[in-house]
Amino acid sequence: MSEDDVRDGRVRIFDTTLRDGEQAPGIALTRGEKVEIAEQLARLGVDILEAGFPISSQGEFEAVSEIASSVRGPVIAALARTTEVDIRRAAEALKGAERWRIHTFISTSDVQRESMLRMSHQQVLDAIREHVTLAKTYTEDVEFSAQDATRTDLDFLLECYDVAVSCGATTINVPDTVGYATPSEFGELIRIVRERTPDHVVISTHCHNDLGLAVANSLAGIENGARQVEVAVNGIGERAGNCSLEEIAMIIRTRGEALGVHHGLNLREIMRTSRLVSMTTGYSVQPNKAVVGASAFAHESGIHQHGVLANRATYEIMDPLEIGLEGNRIVLGKHSGRHAFADALAKLNLEVDEEHMNRAFARFKELADRKIQITDQDLVAIVAEELGSAGEGDELVLESLQVGGGTHLAPTATVRLRRGDEIIQESAMGDGMIDAACGAIQRAAGVEARLVTFNVSSVTGGSDALGDVVVQLDIGGRRVTGRGVATDVVEASARAYLAAINRALSMTDRREVETRAEVTP
Ligand code: KIV
Ligand code: ZN
Repeated sequence: MSEDDVRDGRVRIFDTTLRDGEQAPGIALTRGEKVEIAEQLARLGVDILEAGFPISSQGEFEAVSEIASSVRGPVIAALARTTEVDIRRAAEALKGAERWRIHTFISTSDVQRESMLRMSHQQVLDAIREHVTLAKTYTEDVEFSAQDATRTDLDFLLECYDVAVSCGATTINVPDTVGYATPSEFGELIRIVRERTPDHVVISTHCHNDLGLAVANSLAGIENGARQVEVAVNGIGERAGNCSLEEIAMIIRTRGEALGVHHGLNLREIMRTSRLVSMTTGYSVQPNKAVVGASAFAHESGIHQHGVLANRATYEIMDPLEIGLEGNRIVLGKHSGRHAFADALAKLNLEVDEEHMNRAFARFKELADRKIQITDQDLVAIVAEELGSAGEGDELVLESLQVGGGTHLAPTATVRLRRGDEIIQESAMGDGMIDAACGAIQRAAGVEARLVTFNVSSVTGGSDALGDVVVQLDIGGRRVTGRGVATDVVEASARAYLAAINRALSMTDRREVETRAEVTP
């Protein structure tokens, strides 16, 4: 990026789905999933892709390394605290990249500085000086973040930024770490930082959504001179999440002229990116979510439908085709073959490898036998279920499930699971049929699991709609997510429950998860 870019209206999209996004409770992506998301983010055209936090675990280090050496297009960034070991580890992970950035941070607010770091103001300034300088010995491209900037004393904050800039930081990030600022406050802070920082340094926003203001605050930042926004796909991230990539992208696309800014994203990849992230993380997108929600372009009332049919512009300010959204067509039935199935997935921009394709096709056939017609949305859900599973490596496979109950009968369930050549059968009673089915699976799997969240939705309308269930379990202190789709909601729940257990069983490196918990920002 040239110095001219900093002064013109180009807003850099810094994607942190794989770092801050992955810190959302219950998300634990495999290395393969991270690389797949990174490749999709490159197709989307993000400017900077934060691949992870290499010091947090060996698995994270390897994922960042693989992304750095294989994904081309964006600048690949990695996070590092202002410590020598973090910075050296980040540089080591990034060295295979064509262009790379070290993103180093330290807490600056009194509350975080005193309670977490136990460091004086001077010690924080010294740490910034020493470690931005160290990062610069590895790469020209260094970003500095003052964690909890919006709750930091302004004079001290500006002093931190001055030190970082004088040591060569090329991007200064202003995180609203706890989502506390209001748009007018945040905009004013960006204006002050912009005014006293040399032109060649990019000012960046990093807004969390605790009060639902992440997008509004990021926009206020842009209006006041920020030329980088840190965002995550579907707005995922710590607690209530980060500024949503797709919302900022479409605000700039739709109102860019009024704002005097633009970006370089390939908007047609938005839906596909959103679906991939939702499928792999198990975080569903709420139906009324701006831009990527299932209802974002649905017109229900007669007046609206009439208006849109007469002229789309009456009620639509964005073109759904522009973000890669096709209508909800009835696509396939039980006679459809593998070729038609693969073709339908390709039209939806759903890319799956051979193994997942075979499994998804088998599931499609099972479901089409019961449901007759499968829509685009059903296909997305079927693929999501398959991608969420541990694949061929699933330790336990659901052979059959039988449930019984009613108004006068205690709910019971019997489940048969296959582990290699062994069949395990167990029964359980429960508060309801879902509870009984999950209890029977838990017994058969021999695993202690606590249900943390349970989400059920219907994929389309109608009584024959597929039920889509996402569960989050706590297994031995580790959160895991599972997804299940079926025409019957009890079966979908059982599948989701078992998928989560399989995921926990496939995560063998327990120590790694614990280490990450200690260091994540
Ligand atoms: O929210 C935050 O402050 C962060 C920093 C590490 C940038 O994620
Ligand atoms: Zn953050």
